[in-house]
Amino acid sequence: MSEEDADRDDHDREQVVAEVRDRVDPAAEERMRLREVADRLIERAETAATELCADADVLQVGSTARNTWISGDRDIDIFVRFPPELDRETLEEYGLEVGHATVPDGHEEYAEHPYVKGEVEGFDIDVVPCFRLESATDIRSAVDRTPFHTQYLNRRLDDNLAGDVRVTKQFLKGIGVYGSDLRTQGFSGYLTELLVCEYGGFRPLLEAAADWHPPVELDPEDHGRSSFDDPLVIIDPTDPERNVAAVCAAENVARFQHYAREFLANPRVELFDADEPEPLTDAALRDHLEQRTTTPVAVRFDAPDLVDDQLYPQLYKSLDGITNGLDDRGFDVFRATTFADDTAVVFAELAVSERPAVERHEGPPVHVRDHAAGFYDAYADDPNAYGPFIEGGRYVTERPRSFTAAREYLESDRLFDVGLGAHVETALEDGYEVLVGDDIAALLDEFGTGLAAYFDPRP
Ligand code: UTP
Ligand code: MN
Repeated sequence: MSEEDADRDDHDREQVVAEVRDRVDPAAEERMRLREVADRLIERAETAATELCADADVLQVGSTARNTWISGDRDIDIFVRFPPELDRETLEEYGLEVGHATVPDGHEEYAEHPYVKGEVEGFDIDVVPCFRLESATDIRSAVDRTPFHTQYLNRRLDDNLAGDVRVTKQFLKGIGVYGSDLRTQGFSGYLTELLVCEYGGFRPLLEAAADWHPPVELDPEDHGRSSFDDPLVIIDPTDPERNVAAVCAAENVARFQHYAREFLANPRVELFDADEPEPLTDAALRDHLEQRTTTPVAVRFDAPDLVDDQLYPQLYKSLDGITNGLDDRGFDVFRATTFADDTAVVFAELAVSERPAVERHEGPPVHVRDHAAGFYDAYADDPNAYGPFIEGGRYVTERPRSFTAAREYLESDRLFDVGLGAHVETALEDGYEVLVGDDIAALLDEFGTGLAAYFDPRP
């Protein structure tokens, strides 16, 4: 590439970044409104907290405390710190009291500690109690670590890097990998900030990521010991025992690499837009099925009433269990996914949905005398089995197959032999529907966008 070409490409990238920056940087007025509300609530929380415990203090944490929030995001995280001498029960009691005093319309939620959540003038407020500790390694629960994150990042981030954090967050949102919730299994805000700090900005981060060879390990504070088995490892600067990227799934690391290369090769603002596909139409679904000649199957049930962080791990586990169950019985799964809204669905596209009446069953090598004799005796007199005969030194028999169609298997109680999440299992016990082939059109109303994405897969 000539120097001129390189300059032009560079210019294009900067142009795109500048455009995105314009969009995600909160305007002065938006910042001021947030500052006003945050200051007012912090003062309220301080008054309430110090009345209960003279030693308590209050601080704002999270992205709105670090100038790394994206325009339109509106969460204000307020942490109330109590001295470590306080017992946990009192901490929880005080924490809720301060929460209610700070956000009078708020309601209680439960994470590591119970805390109060509510809305004030359009901002989502969390008031979370924690212990004030000397170091993040002394923590008693995950929230105790949070103030250390803010302290650390405030030291490392300047305005320029904070701006790059916002751009990076928007990029990660655009490609669908932002968030450390257990549905997304992507990049948390804190992880994003550490990555931008470590590589020195959005561009250098993308340039590095484009060339990553996982496992990738970063250790910003040179803690030096690590034994993590994850594709991306960033030792928490505030706690050497923790990998900040622990929940980030391998496929999301790969996705980030793909789109990093995409951006560098062909920079464009659209990469920063999360676009939901148009719901799949009935006709388009039929076209796909006709073209692929696979057999789609779906197990549909009432979605358990759980928060996403509990629901999705159970759905993923059930997806795994059911696809393994299908594979084990000879119904080869081509690709599969799960959807949830009011109902939940384990969806699998089968390459093989029907099997012959008999299946091969391999016994032990004949020379393993005891086992082999046992196998031979078990099948020799079975009128329904062919054999046993010998193939390559082993006994083999051909016996009737329990299920010759995927539908039979899915409708049977054997479905409950596979690993299912506890609440999914209960939901299935209450009843479920099995859809096969064209019947899956019944899913279009509720899961049209999910199916559209499924039949138009992208990185
Ligand atoms: P948030 O999820 O609100 O993240 O958690 P954030 O950094 O403010 O990012 P955005 O801009 O809202 O998306 C608030 C803080 O809680 C801690 C982090 O320190 C984070 O900054 N936290 C959150 C964790 O330590 N672990 C988590 O899984 C989530
Ligand atoms: Mn936040």
